[in-house]
Amino acid sequence: MKKASFLIILALILVNGASAQVIDNENLTVTHGPWLQNLDANGVTILWTTNKPAVPGINITGPDGKTRFVRNSHDGIVDGGGMLHKVRVEGLEPASIYKYSVHSVQIMKYQAYKVYYGDTINRRAETFTTPPLRSDKVSFLVVNDVHNNSGKMSSYFRKGNVSGMDFCFFNGDMVDFLQSPDELFSGFLDSAVTSFASKKPFYYVRGNHETRGYKAREIKNYFDYKDGKYYYGFDYGPVHFTVLDCGEDKPDNNKNYFGLADYDSYRAEELEWLKMEVKSDEFRNAKKRIVIIHMPIVKEEKQNNGMKYLSDNFGPLLQASGVNLMISAHTHRNTFYEAGKSGFNYALLVNSNNSFVEVIADEKEIRAVVKDVTGKQLAEYIIK
Ligand SMILES: [Fe+2]
Repeated sequence: MKKASFLIILALILVNGASAQVIDNENLTVTHGPWLQNLDANGVTILWTTNKPAVPGINITGPDGKTRFVRNSHDGIVDGGGMLHKVRVEGLEPASIYKYSVHSVQIMKYQAYKVYYGDTINRRAETFTTPPLRSDKVSFLVVNDVHNNSGKMSSYFRKGNVSGMDFCFFNGDMVDFLQSPDELFSGFLDSAVTSFASKKPFYYVRGNHETRGYKAREIKNYFDYKDGKYYYGFDYGPVHFTVLDCGEDKPDNNKNYFGLADYDSYRAEELEWLKMEVKSDEFRNAKKRIVIIHMPIVKEEKQNNGMKYLSDNFGPLLQASGVNLMISAHTHRNTFYEAGKSGFNYALLVNSNNSFVEVIADEKEIRAVVKDVTGKQLAEYIIK
């Protein structure tokens, strides 16, 4: 054997021998979260991710000091095996403080007749408070059009009183597009967790930018939407909230959508739902009604396709239904339309991409304060 051939064979033996001895010494860790969703008087949904496949669970301790362990299952199979975890905890008491920690058990091998477990980790405990069954007020913070600038968003949370609020709305265009889940995390979610989202819930309202990119199809996996829809209603204190999904702004056949947009029929379907929503007891019996939507529903001469459809179809329906306030985003400008000035009879607050809004509502009035990134108050609006 020639010397060169011998050396090649020796090198192959060494490489194969080395690869056979590779050991995965990386510990199981929580990579993102936890963040809270759909917190109500009796339950909460908690999400987080791990760096390796795991079986998720929650240790939760109530005001009585008793701890229970919660895992979810679907169709008889315990949830697990992925790296994104979502656990719903039910059976909570209203207006109570709960301590919880996320629990993950690594799955190293998952075969039909052989499952090997690896590390078990318990994340440090966090707390949250369930809302009361009845409350005479509600407070929340609104942030929008962050467009991946999580540093700016963190300033909002440092200057704003998010810890004193009941929840937060992310009112769309939090990211430019979604080509990978990492854009959610680096774009705003990691900063939200650091600031408040392990202790207070948020509602992630879809903007037009969230519809772009391959992973836009998977947003719902990372959050917990009521009835699995981007449009829904819910009650908190004296307010009924109607959350709407604006869809894309340009016509479905715009070349930038490459034939993959179907928002005209989607908005028509949403409109049918809205007709039912405004007839519901929850909507009609509420002391105050607030609509949250990324693109403002306003009457203007020149409007793009999406906003025109909303103005022509959603606006008159909301006008006839006694909406007190609409909170929107999208234009990157601060604008306030008194009731009647929007072309409809509800007040409309459009928040810019450089400010956030703190809202406190009771049975008498809705008070909205707009603040800039330094926490300086820019405007205050009181809607009776
Ligand atoms: Fe937008």
